[in-house]
Amino acid sequence: MKYYMAPLEGITVHTYRNSFREFFGGIDKYFTPFIAAEGSLKMKKREIKDILPENNPDIHLVPQIISNNADNFIRFVHLISDRGYREINFNLGCPSGTVVSRHKGSGFLAEPDELDRFFDKVFNEISDVNISVKTRIGVNDENEIYRIMEIYNRYPIYELIVHPRIRADYYKGSPRMDKFRYIYDISTNPVCYNGDIRHAGDCYKITEEYKELTSIMIGRGLIRNPMLVCGIRNGNDALPDRNILRKFHDRIYNEYRETMPGERVIIYKMKEIWVYMIDLFEDDGTYIRLLKKSDGLSQYNVFVNRIFSECPFR
Ligand SMILES: Cc1cc2nc3c(=O)[nH]c(=O)nc-3n(C[C@H](O)[C@H](O)[C@H](O)COP(=O)(O)O)c2cc1C
Repeated sequence: MKYYMAPLEGITVHTYRNSFREFFGGIDKYFTPFIAAEGSLKMKKREIKDILPENNPDIHLVPQIISNNADNFIRFVHLISDRGYREINFNLGCPSGTVVSRHKGSGFLAEPDELDRFFDKVFNEISDVNISVKTRIGVNDENEIYRIMEIYNRYPIYELIVHPRIRADYYKGSPRMDKFRYIYDISTNPVCYNGDIRHAGDCYKITEEYKELTSIMIGRGLIRNPMLVCGIRNGNDALPDRNILRKFHDRIYNEYRETMPGERVIIYKMKEIWVYMIDLFEDDGTYIRLLKKSDGLSQYNVFVNRIFSECPFR
């Protein structure tokens, strides 16, 4: 089984990925947060920095693009593949309001005919780069997946990564597993499962049920417990060593301190990680309050020192 780290905008950037690989590892592929292929034809500086091969040593990285315009998408595929990438992932899952209102991410799923034309052009013009897709199963209704699958099955999608929720679910409720079963059964392209794996047992349920699955993508569960995949591979729910988790944290924190413009930005970035990582700790509310109150580095340092020295894992 191959295990992928899901892209999480604001979190799984190169600083995080490199620290993760150094202290935990076990990940077969990392995906970048989405890069918007806009008409400007240029990538942002921060996006270029995130995919530069020298900033991703020893990492199998798949850059991800979001777009609803085939010409822009193709241009960005060339910009990125010029840096040596042989797989590019297409985002058809993002549920955020600003993205969906521009008919991108999961919003593009509402326009299946457009999507079909998009793929037709993309797969006709791109032959030297593998295009994988990360998708939800619809926008407002899970039955949209039937039409969407007709389209996906017409194209040589390198891998179809499925988060079996509709856009309207955001991250609520349970993944819609009967629809995942449908996709798994009829897809002519390789399928990867993504969604709500927090413990090794969640993963085994999927691999037992879908025996021919060859890859699983994990997002929030891995940010919460960076040892999750190592544990899954060893048949247990391993937790990180506290000292190693602290070093991992410090490596990211120090790099942000060196590269980010001000205390507030650094703390904001660290808080994005803690949204998930704090759940690893048996916190009665004390530490989350400390974290929320931190708007400068000295307060943040007190929070970090206290949680790592005082608070047990769950
Ligand atoms: C904060 C956050 C940011 C995300 N950013 C992206 C993104 O840039 N591209 C993408 O395809 N999915 C993105 N996702 C979705 C995740 O990759 C993943 O599909 C989702 O969290 C479900 O998997 P999980 O239950 O293992 O976390 C994001 C999710 C969250 C919570």
